[in-house]
Amino acid sequence: MRVKTVPADAVTLMEVEHCGLKYRNPFMVGSGPTSKTVAQLVDAERCGWGASSIKLVIDPPPYINKEPRYRWFEKEQFHIFTSEKRLNLDEGLRLMEGGRKHTREIILLANITYSGPDAEGWVEMSRKFEAAGAHALELNMCCPNMSFNLDVAAEDGTRRPCSGASLGQHPEAVAHITKEVMKGVKIPVFVKLTGEGGSAPKVAKPTIATGCAGIGNGGTRLGVPPIDLYDLKKNLYGLQDEVSMGCYSGPWMRPLALRDVYEIRRTIGSEGTIVGFGGVHNWKTAAEMFLVGADFIGICTETMVRGFGFLPELIKGLKKYMKDTGFKDHRAMRDRLVREIVTADKVTIRDGLAVIDDEKCIGCRKCELPAHCYAITMEDRPAAELAAAKTQGKKLSRQVAKIEGADCCACNTCIDVCPVPECITLAKGEFHKAKHN
Ligand SMILES: Cc1cc2nc3c(=O)[nH]c(=O)nc-3n(C[C@H](O)[C@H](O)[C@H](O)COP(=O)(O)O)c2cc1C
Repeated sequence: MRVKTVPADAVTLMEVEHCGLKYRNPFMVGSGPTSKTVAQLVDAERCGWGASSIKLVIDPPPYINKEPRYRWFEKEQFHIFTSEKRLNLDEGLRLMEGGRKHTREIILLANITYSGPDAEGWVEMSRKFEAAGAHALELNMCCPNMSFNLDVAAEDGTRRPCSGASLGQHPEAVAHITKEVMKGVKIPVFVKLTGEGGSAPKVAKPTIATGCAGIGNGGTRLGVPPIDLYDLKKNLYGLQDEVSMGCYSGPWMRPLALRDVYEIRRTIGSEGTIVGFGGVHNWKTAAEMFLVGADFIGICTETMVRGFGFLPELIKGLKKYMKDTGFKDHRAMRDRLVREIVTADKVTIRDGLAVIDDEKCIGCRKCELPAHCYAITMEDRPAAELAAAKTQGKKLSRQVAKIEGADCCACNTCIDVCPVPECITLAKGEFHKAKHN
């Protein structure tokens, strides 16, 4: 078995006890290409991960199961897969058995889908994974690359057994399957929902009411990937002939994933457990996930890009943040932001004005361009000012931006487009009182 080198300070504790299992920390390798082999499970354990959810196992054998095609767009911060290989039942069971044999501390979850019409199939699979040593189950109600892809894109209206992100949008069906599986096994049962259709909070409510171990907010999201604009038949993802939809993950999805976790937390209340997935890649993004309501965090894309070894650094950063801000542990962080988020009608908008520092302005005109604002104009600097600056050895631009106070609504955009730090700032004050009253 080929495992990779790991950092010496790999195992950093942040222990969690949940449903009778001890996790070294609340970080889980999200089910995917980095949890497909025993070597990967061993590597993840060596790098200190609390848990790993093995690659999706589908029974009966998956009807879409092709060699993987991935792209990582560093600049845009998204990962896409257009094609992916899943495990069949035998492969999955062997992986679980091997994983249990070669690891001691990492918690292993079986990520499973029964792609048939009845709950009994789910129960059968679950029992087999329990017997193979799975510490816990993760029912996959999230994959958008199976029937959901066909739901969205099939020209002939082809329908396949409803699974993954298609099934995951049906509250009654998900809750029913979860309940039946829980009756069939003793190990904890997690359910991984989908962000597709905005359905996760709605589905989470009856599902968590079954008493299951926890809810995951979602997996990848289906989207149209980049194409060659001069050859519309040509995709940009390597050895694949046709253009197809892609499954998006990684940092770009963070705001949407955080919203899903926040909304699920608000819907289910403070009792249920949430596994937050989507775009977590460093301590800051992990902190955000806890603050909006996650108990555990699942990470996939970052492990595909950087391997498993970044976790100790992430935990170190998180611990420093908790120390600096007085949070006793990550549980104390949980939900803190949920209480702070108000609805749009409740926000208090302060009056103010953008103020330009004449000396810093380089006359680039970027602040004058935004089409929603007519408050900024460029003016020539007086010749005397330019001459005085010259004698003092200062370099001033020929033009300078000026703000017409009455037209400035203090929206912020000029500050964000200005390339010079602190050149434009916002002054608080009742500048528009007359206008508003
Ligand atoms: C290539 C790839 C394959 C994936 N396969 C699975 C899978 O088999 N089962 C699953 O539940 N999620 C799967 N996921 C979803 C991830 O586990 C995770 O939920 C999602 O990518 C969002 O997290 P991230 O931004 O950290 O990647 C996959 C993701 C990627 C990128």
